[in-house]
Amino acid sequence: MNTDNLARDTDEETVRRVLILTGGGDAPGLNAVLRAFVKTATDLGLEVLGSEDGFAGLIEEPSRVVPLTRKSVRGILPKGGSILGCSNRANPFAYVERSAAGTERTVDVSERVKAKLEELEVDILVVVGGDGTMNIGMRFAKMGVSVVGIPKTIDNDLAATDLTFGLDTAVATATWAIDALHSTAEAHDRVMILEVMGRDAGWIALLAGIAGGADVILIPEIHYDIDRIVDKIQERSATGHSFSIIVIGEGAKPLGGTVSNIVAGYESIWQHHEGPGVQLARLLEGRIDHDIRVTVLGHLQRGGSPSSFDRILGTRFGVHAAFLCYNDTAGQVVALKGQDIVSVPLETAVANLKRVPLDGELVMVTRAMGIELGEG
Ligand code: F6P
Repeated sequence: MNTDNLARDTDEETVRRVLILTGGGDAPGLNAVLRAFVKTATDLGLEVLGSEDGFAGLIEEPSRVVPLTRKSVRGILPKGGSILGCSNRANPFAYVERSAAGTERTVDVSERVKAKLEELEVDILVVVGGDGTMNIGMRFAKMGVSVVGIPKTIDNDLAATDLTFGLDTAVATATWAIDALHSTAEAHDRVMILEVMGRDAGWIALLAGIAGGADVILIPEIHYDIDRIVDKIQERSATGHSFSIIVIGEGAKPLGGTVSNIVAGYESIWQHHEGPGVQLARLLEGRIDHDIRVTVLGHLQRGGSPSSFDRILGTRFGVHAAFLCYNDTAGQVVALKGQDIVSVPLETAVANLKRVPLDGELVMVTRAMGIELGEG
């Protein structure tokens, strides 16, 4: 950690009260962040509040805001989820209100949330979240709210930081799944398709595919050529490999095709099962002499106890964010750059999504290992 910018500037007025929330979907390591933030901030003399279920705790009446103390965060380090709860349906700038009659309308309740923060005498709002939550944080910053960000997503697609916590645990789960699929694929001479998360970026698919020894890895960054995959499977059969393992990221699509399950809000649960894994199976059907099975790993990747790496990264982010609040350095997001935890302007976190670079070392390694990426 670069400790230079953690030193207290005694000339500055100390922040008294901060409010933290965990927005968007959960990621393993959120509780490590909360624990580290609360412990460090309270030791520095700050008062910490938490909003339940992301912004929902601030939007709803009565509000759901709780004091967070050392006692509140005791024993939570190995736990998945978030002790505060998460919500990806509580955007104050586009909040869906339901009437008693069941009708819905989208309203902007951001002024109400700002007024609530003032009423609670919150000096700094700390948002832990992905691109959606960071965008909300950015919009509040533009309205004059002091905001500190902590990047979070298993997808690792935030440009602000080299890595997000949650990725490592998700990759470990996906790697375990590939290992398990290998033995049953081999026993039945099957082609196994494993669909993993990663709506816009293929980090989970690529890393787990390399770690698990997949034969084909398909990521959103490369629109795959189905002929290349057919060729790969046939080439494997011809050289005595009776089975093949394909890992596909949920945002992957065929050349000239569309992504099959990216529908706003997943209007039907069925769309989870009609995802890119099934789309790929349909394209392969009849073209190869193997049974095909599809496994959708889904939310197993987001659940469970965080890995040591995610606990450590979450703890480092939490500590650093507490010091940013203590020094009243708002408008910043904590980030991992190389080996160091630094802070970067909030705008950086929302500027671009961090996709897998096709000219990067990881893709080069994948090609060198003979793993088919479906490149047309
Ligand atoms: O953004 C993280 C992510 O894991 C995406 O890869 C996936 O599309 C999404 O969450 C699913 O979230 P939910 O089912 O909670 O809406």
